[in-house]
Amino acid sequence: MRRETRREKRCWLAGRGLKWGVPSLTGYTLVRLPNGACSVHSLAHHETFHPVVGPVAEAEALYVRQLRLPERAGAETGEFVVWDIGLGAAANPVTVLRALRHWPGGVRIESFDHTLEPLRFALEHAGALGYLRGYETRLRSLLEAGETQFRDAALSVTWRVHLGDFPAWLAEPEREPVPKPHALLYDAYSPATNPAMWTAPLFGRLFGRLDPGRPCALATYSRSTLLRSTLLLAGFHVGAGHATGEKEETTIAANTPELIAEPLGRRWLGRARRSTSAEPLWEPLYRQARLSPESWERLRRHPQFSRSDTGC
Ligand SMILES: C[S@@+](CC[C@H](N)C(=O)[O-])C[C@H]1O[C@@H](n2cnc3c(N)ncnc32)[C@H](O)[C@@H]1O
Repeated sequence: MRRETRREKRCWLAGRGLKWGVPSLTGYTLVRLPNGACSVHSLAHHETFHPVVGPVAEAEALYVRQLRLPERAGAETGEFVVWDIGLGAAANPVTVLRALRHWPGGVRIESFDHTLEPLRFALEHAGALGYLRGYETRLRSLLEAGETQFRDAALSVTWRVHLGDFPAWLAEPEREPVPKPHALLYDAYSPATNPAMWTAPLFGRLFGRLDPGRPCALATYSRSTLLRSTLLLAGFHVGAGHATGEKEETTIAANTPELIAEPLGRRWLGRARRSTSAEPLWEPLYRQARLSPESWERLRRHPQFSRSDTGC
């Protein structure tokens, strides 16, 4: 593919009210991906929200198809509850709504983020981003009131945003109960730049917030051994996740083995034992370490490995 010249890049950004090389005052800028899709980029974290294939293609592959949302929501008689962790520029929840809009049921989205700035920025650039088209008014209500209710084709939608530090929210006793999720879209920045969102205590508390009687699956873009051992030690069953175009493999976790198509097996366990980066983060500080003897012992005894003879 032909590389864009600096001049072309400058013209493209100028057409969207941005200047190349000049930090946006909001802390976010737009980037155009090689396939022509446009995505939001955080200047503070040096991370593009949906790199490579773009917001819609990534959200469809990683969350909608992988978590089998249309099929699972369609089988639900009550409200289907999605926790959207890392609302950001709302590409993931909006893509989920588009995928479910012809289902004559109810979906509840509980979004979490400690800032609404990426969403505000995305709304200012809705034309360039494309995926927000048709949802602008709803998203403005969400920004202003923290919640919104509407009908989207056949679908009845209740959407709330919880503004604050997600690890701190999980650590507090549940003051106002939030409906328990059927699906978790886990989309924080990477562990190296955002370690507080990837610790073992956080995932342990998240697992503790699930309803053991309500099957729930989590998908996330990372396939790292560190993340997978963290999820297993938190109590989840964990499997190899779909490719997204950016990554050849991602991760899916669930509170029941039935939601995992390709569970990690003993081969993965052997690799984890040899890995130099498998020990979970016990504090919000990024580092790489081999599994401690305690973690190894707990992983080895996880019911997933006593059940599986094969697996990946
Ligand atoms: C990669 S972006 C999410 C992109 C988003 N899912 C989308 O579809 O556009 C990561 C998000 O995680 C949020 N985040 C990072 N640390 C957080 C924390 N401690 N508590 C709550 N949200 C956090 C960031 O503010 C950011 O919006």
